[in-house]
Amino acid sequence: MNNNINSIKEEALQEITKADTLSQLEAARIKFLGKKGKVSDLLEKMKKMTPDEKPLFGKQVNSLKVSIQAGIAEAKKSLEQKSERLCSFVDKIDITLPGLKKKLGTVHPITQTIEDVVAIFRDMGFSFADGPDIETEFNNFDALNTPEDHPSRDLQDTFYLENGSLLRTQTSPVQIRVMMSKKPPIQIIAPGRVYRNDTPDATHGHTFHQIEGLYVDKKVSFADLKGVLHSCARQLMGKDVKIRFRPHFFPFTEPSVEYDFSCVMCGGKGCKICKNSGWIEISGAGMVDPRVYEKVGYDPEKYSGYAFGLGIERIAMIKYGIDDLRLFYENDERFLNQFA
Ligand code: DAH
Repeated sequence: MNNNINSIKEEALQEITKADTLSQLEAARIKFLGKKGKVSDLLEKMKKMTPDEKPLFGKQVNSLKVSIQAGIAEAKKSLEQKSERLCSFVDKIDITLPGLKKKLGTVHPITQTIEDVVAIFRDMGFSFADGPDIETEFNNFDALNTPEDHPSRDLQDTFYLENGSLLRTQTSPVQIRVMMSKKPPIQIIAPGRVYRNDTPDATHGHTFHQIEGLYVDKKVSFADLKGVLHSCARQLMGKDVKIRFRPHFFPFTEPSVEYDFSCVMCGGKGCKICKNSGWIEISGAGMVDPRVYEKVGYDPEKYSGYAFGLGIERIAMIKYGIDDLRLFYENDERFLNQFA
């Protein structure tokens, strides 16, 4: 019998400590101390006992009852304290206050500019192409007819990786990737991030963005190149923008030019943004050099084409009137929110 009483005591105390709420505790009380509970069952059994057995058993059942009652009282007290603490915490919250506003992100001005330029060229029939930021020396230099001793291959200009690859210094290697993978006609636009071992200042960064354009087909001329670049300039900057070409040298184009947009900030009169020249240098362009065609296996007699680069930061700077490109990368919300 004693054993039975002990196991009921253990079971009861276990359920009491497990109870997380007052109603669970009440359920435990009914199970053990209720009218049809386990303690009443024991008292029922006592009726059938001999007068000798009754006193001891009665004493034990009574002590069981007292222990369960004490356990329940203690658990009740601690549950009540817990709920009081919770209530006082809830009381301190002013539910009439407006909630915290969720901040909405906005498209970064550089991303926006890339999207604008890509959309303009897509409308002119160009399709999207891309290539990796980590390039081979072949794609970034050799295939672009850039000789071993060219200064841009110097360690001071290019970030080389330990395995001999490099961080592309321009988006022009995408030209090579595309031409190696298919035959003309080719008409692509390829935006991307590029890297140079430059000291950052207001107009230079070690990481920036370019968009590469390439059009190769039969009988493509320099006039076609002028046409698309001028059209792009007008759509980006407004119909009054002028474009000018200056003779230049790039190893992968012949002839080569650098081209500028007239400064839309001052209307070409000269201001801080255009360094008083009235013009903003955008990037380079030219007719694809026959030596590049040889590298990718095209017949230079059969095909001609133009290529161009666009400096995204430059365009964003004039479009939004920003005179320090480092602002684009500092992620200062006060700056970025202006583009919301
Ligand atoms: N890759 C050149 C640079 O980063 C820009 C450029 C010049 C791209 C002439 C071209 C091009 O496609 O034809 O300075």
